[in-house]
Amino acid sequence: MAVVDQPERVLIAGASGGIAAALGSEISQRFPDAELLTVSRRGEAPEGFTAAYHLQADLTDAGSVTQVAEFIAEKGAPPDWVICCCGILHTDDHGPEKALDQCEDAWLLESMRINVITHMHLARALSPALKPSHPLVWASLSAKVGSIGDNNLGGWYSYRMSKAALNMFVRNLSIEWGRRLDHCCVVAVHPGTTDTELSKPFQKNIREDKLYSAATSAERIVDVLAGLDEKRNGKLLFWDGEVLPW
Ligand SMILES: NC(=O)c1ccc[n+]([C@@H]2O[C@H](COP(=O)([O-])OP(=O)(O)OC[C@H]3O[C@@H](n4cnc5c(N)ncnc54)[C@H](OP(=O)(O)O)[C@@H]3O)[C@@H](O)[C@H]2O)c1
Repeated sequence: MAVVDQPERVLIAGASGGIAAALGSEISQRFPDAELLTVSRRGEAPEGFTAAYHLQADLTDAGSVTQVAEFIAEKGAPPDWVICCCGILHTDDHGPEKALDQCEDAWLLESMRINVITHMHLARALSPALKPSHPLVWASLSAKVGSIGDNNLGGWYSYRMSKAALNMFVRNLSIEWGRRLDHCCVVAVHPGTTDTELSKPFQKNIREDKLYSAATSAERIVDVLAGLDEKRNGKLLFWDGEVLPW
C-alpha cells in the first residue's frame, strides 16, 4: 500500500529551480486540494503555481534549520510529502571536473554544501514536527551519477562525490525515520537528464529523446512518489521507479 498516494500538504525546497517549479505545477494540477509550502532563497514562490505559504531561506545556512522549523510549526500539520530539489553541478566559474588535476578543495566543499547540507538542514527542520503516526514521503532529488555501483565512466568528481554523500544521508535518514515513524518512505530520486539551467551546458551530447522537459520529469517524479510503499524506504530510484544500485 502506498504511504501517501494523495498528499494533503507538500513542501518543496529549492523551489525556484527548473524541476522544482514544474513539480509545483504538476502537484497543484494533480492534487488541487493539496496545500503547497515552498522554501527558496528567492523572496517569491516560482511562477506556474500558487504556493499557500512561501519562506525565503537559504538552506546552506545553519540558521535555516530554525527558520524552516518555525515556518512548518506555524502553518499547522507537517507536510506529508517533502521534496528537496537543491543541487548544483556548475557555476559560471566552475564546471564538473574531467580529471583529478582539475579538482579543487573549495569547489568540492561548495558542492557538498549545496548538494548535501541543504537536504540535511531541511530534514533537521522537519524532524521536531514529525509524530510517529504521521505518514511521510521524503524525496531528495539526487542523481544516478552519485551511484558508486553504477559509475563506469568516471569524471565529474565533486558532483559525483557530493551526490554519493547525499545518497548516504538519505539511506541513514530512511533508517532513523523508518524506526521512528509508523509509515514512511525516504528515497533519493534520479529525475533523468532534464532541460534546466543545471544541465544546459551539457546538453549537446545528450540524445534528443533522452533530454526531458521539466514538465515530463515532474510528472514522472509525482507518479513515483504517489506509488511509494514502505518496501521502497531507503532506496535510490530511477525516474520510472526502478531501484538503482547505491
Ligand atoms: N536537470 C537535470 O538534468 C538533473 C539530472 C539529475 C539530477 N538533477 C538534480 O535535480 C535537482 C534539481 O535540479 P534542476 O535541474 O531543477 O536544477 P536548477 O534549476 O539549477 O535548480 C537547483 C536548485 O538548487 C538550489 N540551489 C542552487 N544553487 C544554490 C546555492 N548556491 N545555495 C542554495 N541553494 C542552491 C536552488 O534553490 P533556490 O534558489 O530555490 O533556493 C535551485 O532552485 C538537483 O538536485 C539536481 O542535482 C537534475
